[in-house]
Amino acid sequence: MGNELAGKKVAFLGAGKMGGIILQALLQKGLLSAKSSCATVAHEERARALAAKLKVSVGTNNVEAIKGADLIVIGVKPQVVEDVVREISGHVTPKQAILSVAASVPTSMIEKHLPPDVPVIRAMPNTPCLLGAGMTAICKGKHAGPKDVALACHMFEVVGRTVVVDEKHMDAVTALSASGPAYIYIILESLAEAGVKVGLPRDIATLLAAQTALGASRVVLETGDHPALLKDSVTTPAGCTIDAIMELEEGKLRVTLIKAVVKAAQRAKELAYG
Ligand SMILES: NC(=O)c1ccc[n+]([C@@H]2O[C@H](COP(=O)([O-])OP(=O)(O)OC[C@H]3O[C@@H](n4cnc5c(N)ncnc54)[C@H](OP(=O)(O)O)[C@@H]3O)[C@@H](O)[C@H]2O)c1
Repeated sequence: MGNELAGKKVAFLGAGKMGGIILQALLQKGLLSAKSSCATVAHEERARALAAKLKVSVGTNNVEAIKGADLIVIGVKPQVVEDVVREISGHVTPKQAILSVAASVPTSMIEKHLPPDVPVIRAMPNTPCLLGAGMTAICKGKHAGPKDVALACHMFEVVGRTVVVDEKHMDAVTALSASGPAYIYIILESLAEAGVKVGLPRDIATLLAAQTALGASRVVLETGDHPALLKDSVTTPAGCTIDAIMELEEGKLRVTLIKAVVKAAQRAKELAYG
């Protein structure tokens, strides 16, 4: 795969947790150079600390940062996106593309405040991007084309997997894969607690739970087999697993997870800006 970012200048507006993870990964993998990237944050002292850490130019002036940028990544909190877009809008041209990672901010809201024809891409990553094991869904706005989508996919493939979806699915994505790590941590915490209950030291119980979740996930991803089929292959007739499954069914684990994702998707929709 070629480097679609080669020769491009990228400005990260709001290099906090998520923006910082992506910028750092792109720099580490050599897809961006320190010279071709810059970032902004809200506070001067954060700017100084980040500049020292990443060895890139970091400031607090968004208009200055986007000068000459080919791609502008918006990584501020959702409620700040409109202010930032309004602030830069008089200085953006259709030659520049905007990529927003903000949850619940539709591309139409960003487009509305920009000059006509500026391509806008929306991405929804998750925190495992930190270890290169992220999941990012990407959708395009009205004026973005296949090249803009390819560029966004290329960027997020550096920190994990990507999938391209219609924007109508972004609230569902937010509820499933962006919030998802929290659900999995609760499951892991509970399994580790269960290990302790049946006599294992906590560190061993946590390792067993986490590595089991990782292994099972890899089997699903790499075989492409239906999870129900894979579950059946672990479940010996009259064995131990089926007794555990009966408890899970009685405790309504499945329906609880389904309802949790439905609630989160509804909340993502309610929170929609613009
Ligand atoms: N965290 C996740 O799991 C996750 C997942 C998917 C999407 N997202 C999205 O990513 C975005 C950022 O979330 P986060 O967790 O990374 O938040 P965060 O760590 O608080 O980062 C936000 C950054 O924006 C900076 N900022 C605030 N106002 C600014 C302004 N006017 N101009 C330039 N920079 C400004 C902040 O600067 P200071 O550091 O100086 O305060 C901070 O560095 C959100 O829109 C969120 O929906 C997050």
